[in-house]
Amino acid sequence: MAEQRVSIHGQWTNRTVFILAATGSAVGLGNIWKFPYITGENGGGTFVLVYLMCIALIGIPIMIAEIMLGRRGKQSPINTMATLAKGEGRNPAWVWLGWMGVVAGFLILSYYSVIAGWAMSYIFRTGGGMFLGVTADGANSIFAELVTDPERLLAWHTIFMVMTMLVVGRGVKQGLEKAVTFLMPFLFGLLILIVIYAMTTGYFTEGLEFLFSPGAITGKAILIAMGHAFFTLSLGMGAIMVYGSYLSDEYSIVQASIIVALADTVVALLAGMAIFPIVFANDLQPGAGPGLIFQTLPIAFGHMQGGTLVGVVFFTLLLFAAWTSAISLIEPAVAYLVENRGVNRIYAATWVGLLTWFAGLGTIFSFNIWKDNTISIPFVFENFTFFDTLDYLTANVMLPLGGLFIALFAGWIMRQESTREELYTYPAIYKTWRFLTRYIAPVAVIVVFLKAVSLI
Ligand code: TRP
Repeated sequence: MAEQRVSIHGQWTNRTVFILAATGSAVGLGNIWKFPYITGENGGGTFVLVYLMCIALIGIPIMIAEIMLGRRGKQSPINTMATLAKGEGRNPAWVWLGWMGVVAGFLILSYYSVIAGWAMSYIFRTGGGMFLGVTADGANSIFAELVTDPERLLAWHTIFMVMTMLVVGRGVKQGLEKAVTFLMPFLFGLLILIVIYAMTTGYFTEGLEFLFSPGAITGKAILIAMGHAFFTLSLGMGAIMVYGSYLSDEYSIVQASIIVALADTVVALLAGMAIFPIVFANDLQPGAGPGLIFQTLPIAFGHMQGGTLVGVVFFTLLLFAAWTSAISLIEPAVAYLVENRGVNRIYAATWVGLLTWFAGLGTIFSFNIWKDNTISIPFVFENFTFFDTLDYLTANVMLPLGGLFIALFAGWIMRQESTREELYTYPAIYKTWRFLTRYIAPVAVIVVFLKAVSLI
């Protein structure tokens, strides 16, 4: 590109910081809360296999594409798409991709924050010794008691949104850099500790078999696996794009993307290996739904040596993992407001945060007073609550759609010289990326969409 642009929002100090920030965005509730419960609901083995294939064939190439677009545009996703479309002499309508991302991020954060609130409340429940010697039934009713109390959920949701607005208001770089360096390895270590506990339950093999031995799978489950690949890698809505726009030109995007995707996948698999043995050892249902980790892990903490401490630290780290993800969900919107409305970050973060906070009420009520207000869309889903619908619409529709358009833009709309110049990697790697981005990823997304609604 002719002129040298720099992001007005600042740059990551170095490549490691970028990798940590991107990993901080990727690793979150998606890995530890969502992956185990949707794996449980969708029968295990084959679901996990499809998810892994989606990470490798769709997720990694699209992550490379998304970071690349961000770094080339160096602005919020909305302005990045406008600039790039113009720079390539293409239709200005591509800016809608940025807008869809902003909406998706807002919708996701509205429920993400509520679930992060659950994790926060569990720090105190574990710390107070509520789970000492707890039975499976006991853990169930403690969970039910939390989610059927809208006021308590609202309090935690509010605290989490304030925490998120504070970090985003100050600027993603400050504070985040240090927090992630220290916390990510710590979370990793603790998960391994819980996996070791899971080995002592006597049901470790059952857990592994459930996770890795293949069985039947439906078109809908394939869509959920693919949607989750986008969700867990933070792809398809501009979060990784905006992080890419703070990345300096001299670092390799391909290598960073692979590291982030690997770290994210390992955390998810460890969470699965920690949870399913506990599920089977206690005669619980793998398909218990969104409460799964809150109904299983406390049993482990209530019975292992020093479990109270381990539990408190675990839920604290989960909260941090959710926090570093949440900030990436509203960064695109905040960056846009700063660029186009001339407001400061604190003002922008406050307004976006307030709106998100309000939307979160819908998710809170989905677990209590709106529990029975469900909707169905023929051939798509049945009896979904507000939360279920939001989750489905964002993870299984908006993110894959965003990802599809990112792949199409990077693979077909941008000139080959532009992408080659931006990625400057080995020819073989570049060719592989380009092939996956032009053909495999878009076709796979479309095929999975059609299959999920039984059109093929
Ligand atoms: N990836 C995060 C998780 O697994 C959630 C998340 C953060 C996200 N930023 C995102 C999901 C952007 C989709 C898009 O918990």
